[in-house]
Amino acid sequence: MSAALALERTAPLYQRVKSVIPPIEWPVFADDIDAILALKRSRNAVILAHNYMTPEIFHCVADIVGDSLALAREAMKADAEVIVLAGVHFMAETAKLLNPGKTVLIPDLEAGCSLASSITAADVRLMREKHPGVPVVTYVNSSADVKAESDICCTSANAKKIVESLGTDTVIMLPDEYLAQNIAAKTDVKIIAWAGHCEVHERFTAAEVRALRTDYPGVTILAHPECPPEVIKEADYTGSTSDMSNYVGREKPARVVLLTECSMADNVSVNHPQVNFVRPCNLCPHMKRITLPKIRRSLETMTHQVTIDPALAARARRAVERMLAV
Ligand code: 13P
Ligand code: SF4
Repeated sequence: MSAALALERTAPLYQRVKSVIPPIEWPVFADDIDAILALKRSRNAVILAHNYMTPEIFHCVADIVGDSLALAREAMKADAEVIVLAGVHFMAETAKLLNPGKTVLIPDLEAGCSLASSITAADVRLMREKHPGVPVVTYVNSSADVKAESDICCTSANAKKIVESLGTDTVIMLPDEYLAQNIAAKTDVKIIAWAGHCEVHERFTAAEVRALRTDYPGVTILAHPECPPEVIKEADYTGSTSDMSNYVGREKPARVVLLTECSMADNVSVNHPQVNFVRPCNLCPHMKRITLPKIRRSLETMTHQVTIDPALAARARRAVERMLAV
């Protein structure tokens, strides 16, 4: 494929992202984007991309974008034969759990998550032994092994609803300690937490939020619930990545800060050019492993295919489907 043709064909896409991608970088992206769009057609593939993907992925090759809950729901509805998950490994596993008959590809097998690696299936069994009869609610940011030991999953968008749906006075909530504490502050259900943290969100501090308010009077501060509780207390609004994006669209704050991963502000700003984004942010090294060349290679070579032992998958699927049914 000639570079000039690729540039010509992708020109309308560049118009979409020109506020966040300098013109000098575009020719490098254009070739991969053009190839990926053709490969999607020939492979009958869809690309599901998390809100933390970089703008050239999020706005130029993804078919479906969203937070973890939206990606899980959309994975179930996908009618293509191949799903490429532009996100981290637990997201690809969740897509495979919900689509056992489809080919699910992750462009980089090393795209992990500090929350998912903070807990094992044996840890969940120990928690159950320690707290007999208490149901286990597991954040989707977890491995299929851990989901298989759980009663139900949750995401940052539905955690309170899921916790309260069980009708018990106590739940075990794994593995994100801060999400558990932030939900505990909003419900009467007693929550037993695990000490896992997101390496991106745990780094924000309350002092940083106060400094932002001093430096940018009137700024609106949105925080992800994986942030520590003292940060959440200082923020104006807390929600999942899609909740934050919807808030910006709905409220159109003059100036906003998103206390989350760096690509979020880029992606949301493309759709809301009138909003001024102040950009303190933290990069997720796992999400950033997913790049256009790796997505292209993934579709060319049909790697890396996500596989889960069928017996384990059946148990893990139950926890995810139970969440989707609430
Ligand atoms: P959500 O997009 O579900 O809010 O999750 C954020 C996150 O950290 C995913 O890795
Ligand atoms: Fe995991 Fe945090 Fe990265 Fe999301 S942002 S993948 S929770 S480490």
